[in-house]
Amino acid sequence: MPFAHITGWGISVPEPILTNDDIAKMVDTNDEWIRSHTGIRERRIAREDQFPSTLAVEASIKALQVANLAPTELDLIILTSSSPEYIFPATACIIQDQIGATKAGAFDLLAACSGFIFATNMAAQAIRSGSIKNALVIGSETLSRFTNWKDRNTCILFGDGAGAFVLQASDKPGGLLSAVMRSDGSGADSLTLLGGGARHPATEATIHEGKHFIQMDGKAVFRFATRVMGQAIKESLELANLKLDDVQWIIPHQANYRIIETAAKYLKTPLDKFVINIEKYGNTSTASIPLATVEAVQNGKVKPGDKIAFVGFGAGLTWGAMIVEWTGPIPAKKPVHPEQYRLFARLRSFVRRAIRFIEGFFSRKEL
Ligand SMILES: CC(C)(COP(=O)(O)OP(=O)(O)OC[C@H]1O[C@@H](n2cnc3c(N)ncnc32)[C@H](O)[C@@H]1OP(=O)(O)O)[C@@H](O)C(=O)NCCC(=O)NCCS
Repeated sequence: MPFAHITGWGISVPEPILTNDDIAKMVDTNDEWIRSHTGIRERRIAREDQFPSTLAVEASIKALQVANLAPTELDLIILTSSSPEYIFPATACIIQDQIGATKAGAFDLLAACSGFIFATNMAAQAIRSGSIKNALVIGSETLSRFTNWKDRNTCILFGDGAGAFVLQASDKPGGLLSAVMRSDGSGADSLTLLGGGARHPATEATIHEGKHFIQMDGKAVFRFATRVMGQAIKESLELANLKLDDVQWIIPHQANYRIIETAAKYLKTPLDKFVINIEKYGNTSTASIPLATVEAVQNGKVKPGDKIAFVGFGAGLTWGAMIVEWTGPIPAKKPVHPEQYRLFARLRSFVRRAIRFIEGFFSRKEL
């Protein structure tokens, strides 16, 4: 049975920074309250011309560069997002087209802030089954589009950004060692974005009622998160036959510094074992785990051979954890340049659209 290794990683964050002081000009809050209750100092906000696919494509190309893998070698693309571009088509297909992943199946996975754990596990299991060799997993968000900037309960929390992992098959042991995925729909009301779906299709009334904004019972989510984080890590360690001491790093979903602190206490583990960068980005939902991971790799914390416990939780309710032995890039045989495929991808997309237009024109004539 092949192993599924993480061999590439990349992130992309929009440049515009929104500080706590900026938010204090919009709602009745202040920097001190936000920092002491959440650990957040600032977050990134996408420009008008940036979408989940825009950030995802940038993060994906970087991940493919690290893995030294051509987009044409990808068999599978899973985009997980709490702010996808449309209900359909899947944002993953837009990314597939833009990076030139000509033979990849692409779909979106919705598990809110647990999405990156769920998507990475799904891609890894497809590799472990032997049915595919190379997969790209992306978490990408422009949550700022669904944030009610008049609601101080939520607008202080969320931010925009994207992160991607490349997963590849190898006979060498390592990579994803275990994973748990859990859900409890009885808590579905705790964190929602109700408008625009089949139950509340967009109407003047849904807009008037603010159903197109994130709504949250902050205390309920806080209680849930602190309860499940430690449990999920323990379960995934058990499945991997490991102890917490065998793990060098815990990389949690970055929702609230105090949630992470509580999990550290539950696990009786020092807080410096946790990778935390919430102060810079806020809660970027599906992107927060890869954002924290890539920064930890770049600043030399995470090294090949390290064992990492990843843990996530979010709306649904959903939660999950996975244990990974960090691989690092596979030594390159011959450099490939994934970024160069973007030009071919644009050309290919244009030609295919043109062919579709011409086909449509002639088939109309035939009818
Ligand atoms: C949202 C959250 C930060 C609120 O923190 P909290 O400690 O529960 O704060 P409370 O709601 O109890 O409010 C405490 C007080 O601060 C006030 N307050 C709430 N938000 C405030 C803000 N942004 N600025 C200033 N004061 C605020 C409240 O009105 C309340 O005042 P009162 O005591 O006079 O009634 C916290 O509940 C949380 O992080 N929950 C989890 C959310 C989450 O992670 N969601 C995503 C999961 S993927």
